[in-house]
Amino acid sequence: MKPDAFTTLYGIIGHPVYHSLSPAMHNAAFDAVGINAVYLAFDVTDLPSAVRGIRALGIKGLSVTIPHKVEILEFLDEVDDVARRIGAVNTLVNRNGSLWGGNTDWIGAVKALEEQTQLEGKRAVVLGAGGSARAVCAGLKERGAFVHLVNRTVENAKKLAERFACSWSGLDEIKDIEGEILVNTTSVGMEPDSHKTPVPSEILERFNIVMDIVYAPLKTKLLDEAEKAGCVTINGLRMLLLQAVSQFEFWTGRKAPINVMEKILYSRFA
Ligand code: ATR
Repeated sequence: MKPDAFTTLYGIIGHPVYHSLSPAMHNAAFDAVGINAVYLAFDVTDLPSAVRGIRALGIKGLSVTIPHKVEILEFLDEVDDVARRIGAVNTLVNRNGSLWGGNTDWIGAVKALEEQTQLEGKRAVVLGAGGSARAVCAGLKERGAFVHLVNRTVENAKKLAERFACSWSGLDEIKDIEGEILVNTTSVGMEPDSHKTPVPSEILERFNIVMDIVYAPLKTKLLDEAEKAGCVTINGLRMLLLQAVSQFEFWTGRKAPINVMEKILYSRFA
């Protein structure tokens, strides 16, 4: 659909944003559903001015990415409870001039896991204590899973564990840790260090499901070893896709064309 005077505008704000797959995914989704909208990438370094721009231009919705996910909170009229607990917003909806912030990273993580299992009462081990770990922990807790945090720097694990009321330990104790679900939220194994893995392969057979948020490479060393150990594996693109699906649904109130979005995403990693 060609833009005209009725076209509504969506986009992503971040710095840098040139690598983002979101414009291709969301524009294909708008087309597939027949919504007269476009989604653009905005490289933003001056966040306060950008937010004034959103209000002034009536931009309908935005994805928010690094480095603005935390700072954006102070400019919003309303913030979703889970996003506030995570301390980060990745989705903004302009509701007739009132800016609402939510977080679909946790929804993407939970949906990716829920395609394989129900989460209530399950014991999940989360590797890492950064921003992604916060979203994954919040999601697991929302669904009633028991979360055990494991991180290289014990102090960071402790801080996050206290925030989300979960147990914690250092990465050096990983050999003593048991669980049903293992989620890697660290960048270990990401290209160009794809020969690395965050945990020794011997522990993987204890888990039923192993999910990696790293998506380059698509099959990380962790996932390869988990597959060989007989685990169900979930790659990082699944969470990325499902968080985008959730954003689309927040913005449009319509069911996202998941197959169209998935095809775009996977075509970039073929
Ligand atoms: P994000 O916001 O994307 O989650 P981050 O805040 O930089 O990223 O968090 C990175 C996480 O990966 C941290 O938990 C970090 O561990 P530390 O707290 O010890 O720094 C973890 N991490 C990064 N590189 C690592 C490595 N080589 N081995 C183990 N953990 C690593």
